[in-house]
Amino acid sequence: MSFKTSVVGLGYLGATQAIILAKQGHYVIGIDTDSAKVQSLAAGKLPFFEPGLSELLDEVLATGRLRFTSSYGEEVRDIDIHFLCVGTPSVANSEEVDLSAVLESTSLLAKYARADSVLVGRSTVPAGTAERLRKTASEIAGFEVKLAWNPEFLSEGTAIKDSLEPDRIVIGVDDSESEKILRQLYKPLTEAGAPLIVMDTRSSELVKVAANSFLALKISFINGVASVAEKVGASSQDISLALGLDKRIGSSFLRNGVGFGGGCLPKDIAGFYAQALSVGSKDFAGLLGSAIEVNKTRRSKVVELAKEMLGDLSAKKIVVLGAAFKPNTDDTRDSPGLTIAAELSRLGSTVVVHDPVVSSLPQMSKTETLILTKDVNEAFSEVDLVIVATDWPEYKNLDPALIGGRVKARNVIDGRSIIQPSKWKEAGWRVLILGEGSSHVV
Ligand code: UDX
Repeated sequence: MSFKTSVVGLGYLGATQAIILAKQGHYVIGIDTDSAKVQSLAAGKLPFFEPGLSELLDEVLATGRLRFTSSYGEEVRDIDIHFLCVGTPSVANSEEVDLSAVLESTSLLAKYARADSVLVGRSTVPAGTAERLRKTASEIAGFEVKLAWNPEFLSEGTAIKDSLEPDRIVIGVDDSESEKILRQLYKPLTEAGAPLIVMDTRSSELVKVAANSFLALKISFINGVASVAEKVGASSQDISLALGLDKRIGSSFLRNGVGFGGGCLPKDIAGFYAQALSVGSKDFAGLLGSAIEVNKTRRSKVVELAKEMLGDLSAKKIVVLGAAFKPNTDDTRDSPGLTIAAELSRLGSTVVVHDPVVSSLPQMSKTETLILTKDVNEAFSEVDLVIVATDWPEYKNLDPALIGGRVKARNVIDGRSIIQPSKWKEAGWRVLILGEGSSHVV
Protein backbone atom coordinates (compact mmCIF):
# COMPACT_ATOMS: atom_id res chain seq x y z
CA MET A 1 0.00 0.00 0.00
CA SER A 2 1.42 3.41 -0.89
CA PHE A 3 0.80 6.62 1.00
CA LYS A 4 1.03 10.29 0.13
CA THR A 5 3.58 11.66 2.56
CA SER A 6 5.34 14.89 3.41
CA VAL A 7 8.70 15.22 5.14
CA VAL A 8 9.28 18.54 6.88
CA GLY A 9 12.92 19.45 7.45
CA LEU A 10 15.46 18.20 4.91
CA GLY A 11 18.59 17.87 7.02
CA TYR A 12 20.38 14.57 7.40
CA LEU A 13 17.35 12.80 8.90
CA GLY A 14 14.66 14.35 6.70
CA ALA A 15 16.47 14.00 3.38
CA THR A 16 17.20 10.35 4.15
CA GLN A 17 13.60 9.76 5.27
CA ALA A 18 12.19 11.35 2.08
CA ILE A 19 14.44 9.28 -0.20
CA ILE A 20 13.72 6.02 1.65
CA LEU A 21 9.93 6.61 1.60
CA ALA A 22 10.06 7.20 -2.16
CA LYS A 23 12.20 4.09 -2.59
CA GLN A 24 9.51 2.13 -0.72
CA GLY A 25 6.93 3.29 -3.28
CA HIS A 26 5.29 6.17 -1.40
CA TYR A 27 4.69 9.64 -2.85
CA VAL A 28 6.74 12.25 -1.02
CA ILE A 29 6.90 16.03 -0.82
CA GLY A 30 10.08 17.13 0.93
CA ILE A 31 9.57 20.53 2.56
CA ASP A 32 12.26 22.88 3.86
CA THR A 33 12.30 26.66 4.27
CA ASP A 34 15.90 26.70 2.98
CA SER A 35 15.30 27.12 -0.77
CA ALA A 36 18.98 26.48 -1.64
CA LYS A 37 18.72 23.04 0.02
CA VAL A 38 15.44 22.35 -1.80
CA GLN A 39 16.94 23.30 -5.18
CA SER A 40 20.02 21.21 -4.55
CA LEU A 41 17.99 18.09 -3.64
CA ALA A 42 15.60 18.60 -6.56
CA ALA A 43 18.64 18.69 -8.85
CA GLY A 44 19.82 15.37 -7.39
CA LYS A 45 22.58 16.87 -5.25
CA LEU A 46 22.77 15.74 -1.60
CA PRO A 47 23.96 18.55 0.72
CA PHE A 48 25.92 16.00 2.82
CA PHE A 49 27.90 12.80 2.31
CA GLU A 50 26.24 9.47 3.03
CA PRO A 51 27.37 6.25 1.31
CA GLY A 52 24.91 5.14 -1.41
CA LEU A 53 22.32 7.85 -0.75
CA SER A 54 23.20 10.07 -3.70
CA GLU A 55 22.64 7.16 -6.12
CA LEU A 56 19.34 6.37 -4.38
CA LEU A 57 18.26 10.02 -4.71
CA ASP A 58 18.85 9.86 -8.49
CA GLU A 59 16.92 6.60 -8.68
CA VAL A 60 13.83 7.88 -6.85
CA LEU A 61 13.82 11.29 -8.55
CA ALA A 62 13.53 9.44 -11.86
CA THR A 63 10.34 7.71 -10.64
CA GLY A 64 8.59 11.07 -10.16
CA ARG A 65 7.48 10.01 -6.66
CA LEU A 66 9.72 12.51 -4.85
CA ARG A 67 9.35 16.31 -5.10
CA PHE A 68 10.78 19.14 -3.04
CA THR A 69 9.33 22.53 -2.12
CA SER A 70 10.16 25.44 0.18
CA SER A 71 6.59 26.54 0.86
CA TYR A 72 3.68 24.98 2.71
CA GLY A 73 0.39 25.26 0.89
CA GLU A 74 -2.85 23.70 -0.28
CA GLU A 75 -1.04 20.63 -1.64
CA VAL A 76 -0.48 19.59 2.00
CA ARG A 77 -4.23 18.73 2.16
CA ASP A 78 -3.56 15.78 -0.09
CA ILE A 79 -1.08 14.19 2.33
CA ASP A 80 -1.90 11.13 4.50
CA ILE A 81 1.21 11.11 6.73
CA HIS A 82 3.38 14.12 7.63
CA PHE A 83 6.83 13.41 9.05
CA LEU A 84 8.40 16.06 11.28
CA CYS A 85 12.16 15.82 10.80
CA VAL A 86 13.34 19.32 11.71
CA GLY A 87 16.38 19.87 13.93
CA THR A 88 16.14 19.97 17.72
CA PRO A 89 19.54 21.44 18.67
CA SER A 90 20.64 22.37 22.18
CA VAL A 91 19.77 25.93 23.28
CA ALA A 92 22.99 28.02 23.11
CA ASN A 93 25.14 27.58 26.25
CA SER A 94 22.63 25.19 27.81
CA GLU A 95 21.69 21.50 27.89
CA GLU A 96 18.02 22.34 27.15
CA VAL A 97 16.56 21.28 23.80
CA ASP A 98 15.48 24.02 21.38
CA LEU A 99 11.98 23.03 20.21
CA SER A 100 11.26 26.19 18.19
CA ALA A 101 11.63 24.58 14.74
CA VAL A 102 9.46 21.60 15.63
CA LEU A 103 6.79 23.89 17.12
CA GLU A 104 6.84 26.18 14.11
CA SER A 105 6.60 23.41 11.51
CA THR A 106 3.78 21.66 13.40
CA SER A 107 1.83 24.92 13.58
CA LEU A 108 2.27 25.53 9.85
CA LEU A 109 1.22 21.98 8.96
CA ALA A 110 -1.82 22.22 11.23
CA LYS A 111 -3.21 25.03 9.02
CA TYR A 112 -3.51 22.68 6.04
CA ALA A 113 -3.51 19.08 7.31
CA ARG A 114 -6.65 16.95 6.81
CA ALA A 115 -8.45 15.66 9.92
CA ASP A 116 -7.78 12.03 8.95
CA SER A 117 -4.04 12.57 8.30
CA VAL A 118 -1.38 11.79 10.91
CA LEU A 119 1.52 13.98 11.99
CA VAL A 120 4.49 11.82 12.96
CA GLY A 121 7.42 13.28 14.89
CA ARG A 122 10.82 11.73 14.18
CA SER A 123 13.09 14.35 15.76
CA THR A 124 14.60 13.72 19.20
CA VAL A 125 12.62 15.59 21.88
CA PRO A 126 12.04 15.56 25.65
CA ALA A 127 9.11 13.50 26.99
CA GLY A 128 5.79 15.34 26.74
CA THR A 129 6.64 17.22 23.54
CA ALA A 130 4.17 15.27 21.34
CA GLU A 131 1.29 16.10 23.69
CA ARG A 132 2.29 19.76 23.71
CA LEU A 133 2.51 19.85 19.90
CA ARG A 134 -0.83 18.04 19.54
CA LYS A 135 -2.55 20.64 21.73
CA THR A 136 -1.10 23.55 19.74
CA ALA A 137 -1.87 21.88 16.37
CA SER A 138 -5.45 21.04 17.40
CA GLU A 139 -6.12 24.64 18.47
CA ILE A 140 -4.90 25.89 15.06
CA ALA A 141 -6.67 23.19 13.00
CA GLY A 142 -9.97 23.40 14.89
CA PHE A 143 -10.12 19.59 15.30
CA GLU A 144 -8.24 16.96 17.35
CA VAL A 145 -5.05 16.46 15.33
CA LYS A 146 -3.61 12.92 15.28
CA LEU A 147 0.01 13.19 16.32
CA ALA A 148 2.28 10.19 16.88
CA TRP A 149 6.00 9.81 17.65
CA ASN A 150 8.32 7.49 15.78
CA PRO A 151 11.93 8.07 16.89
CA GLU A 152 14.65 7.43 14.32
CA PHE A 153 17.71 5.35 15.17
CA LEU A 154 19.76 5.66 12.00
CA SER A 155 23.48 6.17 12.22
CA GLU A 156 25.48 8.33 9.84
CA GLY A 157 27.42 6.15 7.43
CA THR A 158 24.87 3.30 7.56
CA ALA A 159 21.64 5.29 7.09
CA ILE A 160 20.19 3.21 4.24
CA LYS A 161 20.70 -0.13 5.95
CA ASP A 162 19.48 1.24 9.29
CA SER A 163 16.31 2.54 7.58
CA LEU A 164 15.52 -0.59 5.57
CA GLU A 165 16.66 -3.20 8.12
CA PRO A 166 16.10 -1.53 11.50
CA ASP A 167 16.89 -3.34 14.77
CA ARG A 168 13.43 -2.21 15.90
CA ILE A 169 10.68 0.24 15.01
CA VAL A 170 9.23 2.22 17.90
CA ILE A 171 5.82 3.81 17.52
CA GLY A 172 4.45 6.16 20.17
CA VAL A 173 0.69 6.63 19.80
CA ASP A 174 -2.10 7.98 21.93
CA ASP A 175 -4.91 7.01 19.48
CA SER A 176 -5.74 3.79 17.63
CA GLU A 177 -6.10 5.35 14.16
CA SER A 178 -2.46 6.56 14.16
CA GLU A 179 -1.32 3.10 15.21
CA LYS A 180 -3.29 1.50 12.34
CA ILE A 181 -1.79 3.82 9.70
CA LEU A 182 1.78 3.44 11.00
CA ARG A 183 1.46 -0.35 11.18
CA GLN A 184 0.41 -0.30 7.51
CA LEU A 185 3.31 1.98 6.58
CA TYR A 186 5.85 -0.31 8.22
CA LYS A 187 4.25 -3.59 7.05
CA PRO A 188 6.98 -4.37 4.46
CA LEU A 189 9.67 -3.99 7.15
CA THR A 190 7.82 -5.94 9.85
CA GLU A 191 7.02 -8.71 7.36
CA ALA A 192 10.75 -8.88 6.65
CA GLY A 193 11.35 -9.44 10.37
CA ALA A 194 11.80 -5.99 11.97
CA PRO A 195 10.30 -5.93 15.48
CA LEU A 196 7.69 -3.18 15.96
CA ILE A 197 6.97 -1.93 19.47
CA VAL A 198 3.93 0.21 20.17
CA MET A 199 3.81 2.44 23.25
CA ASP A 200 2.49 5.83 24.37
CA THR A 201 4.15 8.96 22.95
CA ARG A 202 5.96 9.87 26.20
CA SER A 203 7.68 6.48 26.38
CA SER A 204 8.65 6.63 22.70
CA GLU A 205 10.21 10.04 23.22
CA LEU A 206 12.25 8.68 26.11
CA VAL A 207 13.37 5.56 24.19
CA LYS A 208 15.46 7.64 21.81
CA VAL A 209 17.33 9.73 24.41
CA ALA A 210 17.75 6.66 26.62
CA ALA A 211 19.21 4.62 23.73
CA ASN A 212 21.70 7.31 22.73
CA SER A 213 22.59 8.07 26.36
CA PHE A 214 23.24 4.38 27.00
CA LEU A 215 25.58 4.22 23.99
CA ALA A 216 27.35 7.33 25.28
CA LEU A 217 27.62 5.81 28.79
CA LYS A 218 29.14 2.67 27.32
CA ILE A 219 31.79 4.67 25.44
CA SER A 220 32.55 6.79 28.50
CA PHE A 221 32.77 3.67 30.65
CA ILE A 222 35.51 2.16 28.49
CA ASN A 223 37.21 5.54 28.26
CA GLY A 224 37.15 5.75 32.05
CA VAL A 225 38.72 2.27 32.17
CA ALA A 226 41.29 3.55 29.63
CA SER A 227 42.25 6.43 31.93
CA VAL A 228 42.99 3.93 34.71
CA ALA A 229 44.76 1.51 32.34
CA GLU A 230 47.12 4.29 31.23
CA LYS A 231 48.09 4.97 34.87
CA VAL A 232 48.63 1.36 35.95
CA GLY A 233 50.38 0.20 32.79
CA ALA A 234 47.48 -1.90 31.45
CA SER A 235 45.93 -2.11 27.98
CA SER A 236 42.34 -0.90 27.55
CA GLN A 237 42.14 -2.58 24.13
CA ASP A 238 42.73 -5.97 25.73
CA ILE A 239 40.27 -5.17 28.52
CA SER A 240 37.65 -4.06 25.97
CA LEU A 241 38.08 -7.29 24.00
CA ALA A 242 37.59 -9.41 27.12
CA LEU A 243 34.60 -7.38 28.34
CA GLY A 244 32.93 -7.44 24.92
CA LEU A 245 33.01 -11.24 24.73
CA ASP A 246 30.68 -11.36 27.72
CA LYS A 247 27.35 -11.64 25.88
CA ARG A 248 25.65 -9.58 28.58
CA ILE A 249 28.00 -6.68 27.85
CA GLY A 250 28.61 -7.00 24.08
CA SER A 251 31.50 -5.55 22.13
CA SER A 252 29.82 -2.69 20.25
CA PHE A 253 30.36 0.85 21.49
CA LEU A 254 33.20 -0.38 23.66
CA ARG A 255 36.07 1.09 21.63
CA ASN A 256 38.09 3.51 23.74
CA GLY A 257 39.61 6.62 22.24
CA VAL A 258 38.97 10.34 21.93
CA GLY A 259 35.30 9.75 22.73
CA PHE A 260 31.93 10.40 21.16
CA GLY A 261 31.00 13.36 19.00
CA GLY A 262 28.53 14.20 16.24
CA GLY A 263 25.10 15.78 16.15
CA CYS A 264 23.32 13.18 18.31
CA LEU A 265 25.11 11.45 21.21
CA PRO A 266 26.54 14.64 22.83
CA LYS A 267 23.26 16.55 22.39
CA ASP A 268 21.01 13.70 23.50
CA ILE A 269 22.92 12.82 26.65
CA ALA A 270 23.04 16.54 27.55
CA GLY A 271 19.28 16.85 26.94
CA PHE A 272 18.55 13.75 29.04
CA TYR A 273 20.79 15.13 31.79
CA ALA A 274 18.77 18.38 31.81
CA GLN A 275 15.49 16.44 31.80
CA ALA A 276 16.60 14.15 34.66
CA LEU A 277 17.61 17.19 36.72
CA SER A 278 14.35 18.98 35.96
CA VAL A 279 12.30 16.08 37.36
CA GLY A 280 14.52 15.71 40.43
CA SER A 281 16.39 12.51 39.40
CA LYS A 282 19.64 13.97 40.71
CA ASP A 283 21.57 10.70 41.05
CA PHE A 284 20.79 9.63 37.52
CA ALA A 285 21.63 13.11 36.21
CA GLY A 286 24.96 12.69 38.05
CA LEU A 287 25.63 9.44 36.18
CA LEU A 288 24.91 11.09 32.82
CA GLY A 289 26.92 14.17 33.83
CA SER A 290 29.95 12.02 34.66
CA ALA A 291 29.80 10.38 31.23
CA ILE A 292 29.76 13.85 29.65
CA GLU A 293 32.80 14.88 31.74
CA VAL A 294 34.77 11.70 30.91
CA ASN A 295 34.12 12.43 27.24
CA LYS A 296 35.54 15.96 27.51
CA THR A 297 38.57 14.73 29.42
CA ARG A 298 39.61 12.30 26.68
CA ARG A 299 39.92 15.16 24.21
CA SER A 300 42.08 17.20 26.59
CA LYS A 301 44.15 14.09 27.36
CA VAL A 302 45.41 14.13 23.75
CA VAL A 303 46.56 17.73 24.15
CA GLU A 304 48.36 16.75 27.39
CA LEU A 305 50.10 13.91 25.56
CA ALA A 306 51.14 16.33 22.79
CA LYS A 307 52.74 18.55 25.46
CA GLU A 308 54.41 15.51 26.97
CA MET A 309 55.90 14.64 23.58
CA LEU A 310 56.83 18.08 22.25
CA GLY A 311 57.14 20.29 25.33
CA ASP A 312 56.21 23.89 24.44
CA LEU A 313 53.68 23.69 21.62
CA SER A 314 54.05 27.28 20.42
CA ALA A 315 56.35 26.89 17.40
CA LYS A 316 55.34 23.38 16.44
CA LYS A 317 53.52 22.03 13.39
CA ILE A 318 50.98 19.28 14.02
CA VAL A 319 48.68 17.31 11.72
CA VAL A 320 45.34 16.06 13.07
CA LEU A 321 43.99 13.16 11.00
CA GLY A 322 40.21 13.36 10.81
CA ALA A 323 37.83 16.32 10.86
CA ALA A 324 34.66 14.22 10.68
CA PHE A 325 33.37 13.00 14.05
CA LYS A 326 33.55 9.42 12.73
CA PRO A 327 34.35 7.68 9.42
CA ASN A 328 31.98 7.56 6.42
CA THR A 329 30.48 10.97 7.00
CA ASP A 330 31.47 14.58 6.31
CA ASP A 331 29.74 15.71 9.50
CA THR A 332 32.06 17.81 11.69
CA ARG A 333 29.56 18.61 14.45
CA ASP A 334 31.19 18.30 17.86
CA SER A 335 34.10 16.47 16.27
CA PRO A 336 36.73 15.33 18.80
CA GLY A 337 39.46 15.90 16.18
CA LEU A 338 38.44 19.53 15.67
CA THR A 339 38.24 20.22 19.42
CA ILE A 340 41.79 18.88 19.78
CA ALA A 341 43.01 20.79 16.70
CA ALA A 342 41.45 24.06 17.94
CA GLU A 343 43.09 23.71 21.38
CA LEU A 344 46.51 23.03 19.80
CA SER A 345 46.06 26.11 17.63
CA ARG A 346 45.17 28.22 20.69
CA LEU A 347 48.40 26.98 22.27
CA GLY A 348 50.35 28.39 19.32
CA SER A 349 50.92 25.37 17.06
CA THR A 350 50.42 25.48 13.31
CA VAL A 351 47.66 22.91 12.86
CA VAL A 352 46.86 21.07 9.64
CA VAL A 353 43.68 18.98 9.62
CA HIS A 354 43.38 16.17 7.10
CA ASP A 355 40.14 14.46 6.16
CA PRO A 356 39.35 12.26 3.14
CA VAL A 357 35.86 13.75 2.56
CA VAL A 358 35.33 16.92 4.63
CA SER A 359 35.69 19.91 2.32
CA SER A 360 35.02 22.80 4.71
CA LEU A 361 35.41 23.42 8.42
CA PRO A 362 32.93 25.14 10.74
CA GLN A 363 33.61 28.74 11.78
CA MET A 364 36.46 28.84 14.33
CA SER A 365 37.03 31.55 16.92
CA LYS A 366 39.58 34.30 16.24
CA THR A 367 42.29 32.57 18.27
CA GLU A 368 42.07 29.33 16.26
CA THR A 369 43.41 28.84 12.73
CA LEU A 370 43.17 25.45 11.10
CA ILE A 371 44.44 24.47 7.67
CA LEU A 372 42.23 21.84 6.02
CA THR A 373 43.63 19.52 3.39
CA LYS A 374 42.60 16.35 1.55
CA ASP A 375 46.14 15.94 0.22
CA VAL A 376 48.13 13.37 2.19
CA ASN A 377 51.51 14.71 0.99
CA GLU A 378 50.69 18.23 2.13
CA ALA A 379 49.27 16.94 5.43
CA PHE A 380 52.50 15.39 6.70
CA SER A 381 54.94 17.94 5.32
CA GLU A 382 57.44 19.06 8.01
CA VAL A 383 55.15 18.21 10.98
CA ASP A 384 56.47 17.57 14.48
CA LEU A 385 53.54 15.35 15.45
CA VAL A 386 50.81 13.23 13.85
CA ILE A 387 47.53 12.76 15.78
CA VAL A 388 44.97 10.15 14.67
CA ALA A 389 41.56 11.51 15.72
CA THR A 390 39.09 9.68 13.45
CA ASP A 391 39.19 5.98 12.59
CA TRP A 392 39.00 6.38 8.80
CA PRO A 393 40.25 3.05 7.30
CA GLU A 394 42.89 4.90 5.24
CA TYR A 395 44.68 5.95 8.43
CA LYS A 396 44.98 2.34 9.54
CA ASN A 397 47.02 1.53 6.46
CA LEU A 398 49.38 4.50 6.48
CA ASP A 399 52.97 3.58 5.69
CA PRO A 400 55.09 4.86 8.62
CA ALA A 401 58.34 4.56 6.66
CA LEU A 402 57.00 6.63 3.77
CA ILE A 403 55.46 9.29 6.00
CA GLY A 404 58.63 9.30 8.08
CA GLY A 405 60.42 10.81 5.09
CA ARG A 406 58.01 13.75 4.94
CA VAL A 407 57.70 14.76 8.60
CA LYS A 408 60.12 16.87 10.63
CA ALA A 409 59.94 14.57 13.69
CA ARG A 410 58.58 11.02 13.98
CA ASN A 411 55.99 11.41 16.74
CA VAL A 412 52.51 9.91 16.61
CA ILE A 413 49.56 9.86 19.03
CA ASP A 414 46.83 7.38 18.10
CA GLY A 415 43.54 8.50 19.63
CA ARG A 416 41.58 5.63 18.05
CA SER A 417 43.88 2.63 18.52
CA ILE A 418 43.99 1.85 14.81
CA ILE A 419 47.67 1.96 13.85
CA GLN A 420 49.98 -1.00 14.36
CA PRO A 421 52.44 0.32 16.97
CA SER A 422 55.13 -2.28 16.22
CA LYS A 423 55.29 -1.22 12.55
CA TRP A 424 55.59 2.44 13.48
CA LYS A 425 58.20 1.81 16.16
CA GLU A 426 60.27 -0.21 13.70
CA ALA A 427 60.18 2.77 11.35
CA GLY A 428 61.65 4.93 14.12
CA TRP A 429 58.51 6.57 15.45
CA ARG A 430 57.78 7.52 19.05
CA VAL A 431 54.27 6.16 19.59
CA LEU A 432 51.61 7.04 22.18
CA ILE A 433 48.28 5.23 22.16
CA LEU A 434 45.35 6.48 24.20
CA GLY A 435 44.40 3.93 26.84
CA GLU A 436 47.60 1.89 26.51
CA GLY A 437 49.76 2.10 29.61
CA SER A 438 52.52 -0.24 28.54
CA SER A 439 53.32 1.74 25.40
CA HIS A 440 52.53 5.07 27.00
CA VAL A 441 55.75 6.82 26.09
CA VAL A 442 58.03 5.04 23.64
C1 UDX B 1 23.98 7.90 16.87
C2 UDX B 1 23.25 6.59 17.20
O1 UDX B 1 24.15 5.49 17.08
C3 UDX B 1 22.04 6.41 16.28
O2 UDX B 1 21.31 5.25 16.64
C4 UDX B 1 21.14 7.64 16.41
O3 UDX B 1 20.00 7.55 15.58
C5 UDX B 1 21.92 8.89 16.09
O4 UDX B 1 23.06 8.98 16.94
P1 UDX B 1 25.73 8.71 15.01
O5 UDX B 1 25.63 10.08 15.59
O6 UDX B 1 25.68 8.56 13.53
O7 UDX B 1 24.53 7.77 15.56
O8 UDX B 1 27.09 8.09 15.53
P2 UDX B 1 27.57 6.77 16.29
O9 UDX B 1 27.90 5.72 15.34
O10 UDX B 1 26.61 6.43 17.37
O11 UDX B 1 28.94 7.29 16.95
C6 UDX B 1 28.94 8.39 17.86
C7 UDX B 1 30.32 8.71 18.31
O12 UDX B 1 30.81 7.72 19.20
C8 UDX B 1 31.37 8.82 17.21
O13 UDX B 1 32.17 9.96 17.48
C9 UDX B 1 32.19 7.55 17.33
O14 UDX B 1 33.51 7.70 16.88
C10 UDX B 1 32.13 7.33 18.84
N1 UDX B 1 32.33 5.92 19.24
C11 UDX B 1 31.46 4.95 18.83
C12 UDX B 1 33.39 5.59 20.09
O15 UDX B 1 34.18 6.45 20.49
N2 UDX B 1 33.54 4.29 20.50
C13 UDX B 1 32.70 3.30 20.11
O16 UDX B 1 32.90 2.16 20.51
C14 UDX B 1 31.62 3.65 19.24
